[in-house]
Amino acid sequence: MGRVRKAVLPVAGLGTRVLPGTKTVPKELLNVVDRPILSYIVEEGRKAGIEHFVFVTGRNKAAIEDYFDHAVELEAQLEAKGKTELLEQLRAELPKAGEMSFVRQMQPLGLGHAVWCARDVIGNDPFAVILPDVIVDAEPNCLAQLADAFERTGANIIGVEQVPENETHKYGIVAPAERDGRLVKMSGMVEKPKPGTSPSNLAISGRYILTPQIFEELARHEPGAGGEIQLTDAMARLMARQAFYAYEYEGATYDCGDKIGLLRANVALALKRPDLGEAARAAVTAALAGAV
Ligand code: UTP
Repeated sequence: MGRVRKAVLPVAGLGTRVLPGTKTVPKELLNVVDRPILSYIVEEGRKAGIEHFVFVTGRNKAAIEDYFDHAVELEAQLEAKGKTELLEQLRAELPKAGEMSFVRQMQPLGLGHAVWCARDVIGNDPFAVILPDVIVDAEPNCLAQLADAFERTGANIIGVEQVPENETHKYGIVAPAERDGRLVKMSGMVEKPKPGTSPSNLAISGRYILTPQIFEELARHEPGAGGEIQLTDAMARLMARQAFYAYEYEGATYDCGDKIGLLRANVALALKRPDLGEAARAAVTAALAGAV
C-alpha cells in the first residue's frame, strides 16, 4: 500500500456550535493559545509525513487560503521593526510550492460529501482525513500513530478514543471484533447510535487513513444521520469488501468546534507551554478562586 502522503482537511462546515465567533472567522482559524487551530493540524500532518494537503473549503473561508500565504505588508513591518523571531515563525509555516490544494464544497452537505469533493486531487492513493477542528495532543502525534498502524496492516484505519457510555449518541461508534493492543479489528460502525444501542464506547474522533475505494461509496450521495452525507455510512459500506481497523491512539483529544472543548484546549495547552505555563497556572488559579 505504501506510505500516506496526502491528507484531506474538510473546512467547509458552518461552525454553528461556536457562533457568533464563526460568523466572520472560519472556525479552523480560531486561536488556541496563540495560533490558529489549523496551525496545530498542519504541523501534525507534516510531522506524520504528509506532503500534500487538500483543503475542502466553502464560502467565508477565504481567510484560510490567505493564512497559508505571505502577508507581504505585515512581513515588511516586522522586518523593519526587527521582530525577526516572529517573522521566522510566520515564514516557517508557509507551504512549499504545490504543497496545498484548495477545492470548493459549494454546499455543506456533510463530511462525507466534503471528502468526496477531494477525489480528483487525491486520485488512486491511500490518504488521511484530518478533522481540522480536533486537536490531539500526543507524542508521537495522532496521525503518526495511525500511519504506523497503516504500514503494519495495509488496511483502512480509524482513530478512536474511549468516551463515557452516556455520551456515545454524540459520536460515530465502532463495533469491535478482535483486539491486539491498541489495534482493534472492526465488525461494524454506526453514526450517532440511539442511547442504549451503542456497540462500544470507542468513538471516531477525527483522524482516518482510507483507501481510495471510499470515493466509490461516497459517490452514492446517500444522506444519513441529520440529513447529511456521512463519512461513517460510506466507511460502513466499504467494510463489506475491505478490512477496517480502529486504533485507540494515545493522547488527549480536544474538540475545538465546541465551546468547552475549545476552552479545554486553550487551558491545557497554555499550561504545558514552557514560556506561558506559570502565568497560565496563576491566571487559572485566580479565576477559580474568584469563582467560588
Ligand atoms: P462538524 O460536524 O464540526 O460541522 O464537521 P460544522 O458545520 O463545522 O460545525 P457545527 O456542528 O455547525 O458547529 C466536522 C468537520 O467537517 C467539516 C467541518 O468544517 C469540520 O471541520 N465539514 C462538515 C465540511 O467541510 N463540510 C460539511 O458539509 C460538513
